[in-house]
Amino acid sequence: MSQWKVYVTRPVPQPAIDLLAERCEVEVNPEDRVLSKGELIEKIKGRDGVFCLLTDKIDAEVMDAAPGVKVFANMAVGYDNIDIPAATARGILVTNTPGVLTEATAEFAWALLFAVARRVVEADKFMRAGKYRAWGPMLMLGQEIHGKILGVIGGGRIGTAFARRAKGFDLKVLYTDVRPNAQFEAETGGRFVDKDTLLRESDFVSIHVPLTPSTRHLIGERELKLMKKSAILINTSRGPVVDEAALVKALREGEIWGAGLDVFEREPEMVPGLAELDNVVVCPHIASATWETRTAMATMAARNLLAALEGQLPPQCVNPEAYKQGR
Ligand code: GLV
Repeated sequence: MSQWKVYVTRPVPQPAIDLLAERCEVEVNPEDRVLSKGELIEKIKGRDGVFCLLTDKIDAEVMDAAPGVKVFANMAVGYDNIDIPAATARGILVTNTPGVLTEATAEFAWALLFAVARRVVEADKFMRAGKYRAWGPMLMLGQEIHGKILGVIGGGRIGTAFARRAKGFDLKVLYTDVRPNAQFEAETGGRFVDKDTLLRESDFVSIHVPLTPSTRHLIGERELKLMKKSAILINTSRGPVVDEAALVKALREGEIWGAGLDVFEREPEMVPGLAELDNVVVCPHIASATWETRTAMATMAARNLLAALEGQLPPQCVNPEAYKQGR
């Protein structure tokens, strides 16, 4: 017999729903769209657990509207969409999905870097527009990747997986973080430097940090000015880490050469001017979007949710203090 009532805020890979359905009464939002705050509140009332997404803003108001909810299982590694102190204060568990999306996200950061450096999207548009008349010695010259200096901002799981792949292209790796990471250095041969040194010396800069108050606008006008005019910036982390208006200005004025963005400051919108630029490749937050990874993320979130409802500390709990408090 179904025990707990669970709400899933949007269709997700079926294996996760099947897992939940073994133990719970599950309702899935049938519409493939983000719920408004009012709809979310209405839907989660009377539930024991919520399977949510990075597009669901879970704040104190949402929590208080559904006091029966004991866990918000976020299907994402990032959880900046959830007010963690508010959840902890209410003894509500929050979980995320670290690890399973590391390789897919690292691969996608490389896909963006290659696309920008070799002007793949611009070239595709050129072909489709029927503009290709003949091979040209000066046609669409881009930047070589091999042998360059790669700057990694954030030496955690994804930053390490991204930098590990640099070996195949003989890049020299620099990285920066709040503190050095011996594992990053062992796996990538990268050298720890401060942020400004990394920005001055790197040919390509890729961001792999969570969004926190201290990483908001980590890259702004000052930082973009420090970068080489030939530099490429890649962001697969969270949009607000980069001051997008300052980035548009830097791209337009040639302060940096190009950018590859999977995330945006006011997602899903882009700041005015960004979409008109040819030296930027923009994608709709799909770095982890492979069948394998999204299925792994969804089943991990489902397992976390079930563990919480069973009274256990979920394996990927971001606020274990809330668990101790409930004992
Ligand atoms: C995706 O952006 C995630 O945080 O999982």
